[in-house]
Amino acid sequence: MNHIRKKISFVFAMVLFVLTSWWVPAFADHEPEKVQCPQMRKTLKAPDEFLSLTNPLAITAKRVEKGRKIYQSLSSPLQCVHCHGLKGDGTGHMGLEANPPARNFACAETMQSISDGQMFWVITNGIPGTAMPAYADLADWKIWVLIQYIRQWSH
Ligand code: HEC
Repeated sequence: MNHIRKKISFVFAMVLFVLTSWWVPAFADHEPEKVQCPQMRKTLKAPDEFLSLTNPLAITAKRVEKGRKIYQSLSSPLQCVHCHGLKGDGTGHMGLEANPPARNFACAETMQSISDGQMFWVITNGIPGTAMPAYADLADWKIWVLIQYIRQWSH
């Protein structure tokens, strides 16, 4: 009798092992090393009048902090953090699943080719055909402080 019970608990342990080894990675956060740098980028170019814009707000710690708050919790419909990740490296839980994946703001090689004006245009209008939503209701100054916050990962 005892050896049957042992056998059953062994089989049960094996089933549990197989299930957890399959389930756990399915729910775990994505590994940062999966995010490419440089990142392939085919994003549409902003119109010229946007491309030449530069951030009119001088960088201050207070503005960067405000940018962090908007990025993590005050942006709607969906907070930036869900896709671009807490560390800006594109590892948010929805970021890698998107196709193309969310931009990796921590990748200096890719970020240095993206101007302030390009970012401003993208944040306001979104990128049609990708997961990047439009944030048309965000006041201009909020977009500029967001850009200050985003840039600090690639400096
Ligand atoms: C639902 C997912 C999602 C959310 C939420 C999101 N993004 Fe994105 N974002 C993307 C994807 C995907 C791309 C890359 C699209 C591409 O490759 O063309 C992107 C690209 C960008 C880019 C790069 C534009 C370029 O020209 O390369 C910027 C800047 C950006 N997002 C800012 C933000 C900000 C700021 C927020 C929050 C206010 C935000 N995103 C929220 C998915 C998201």
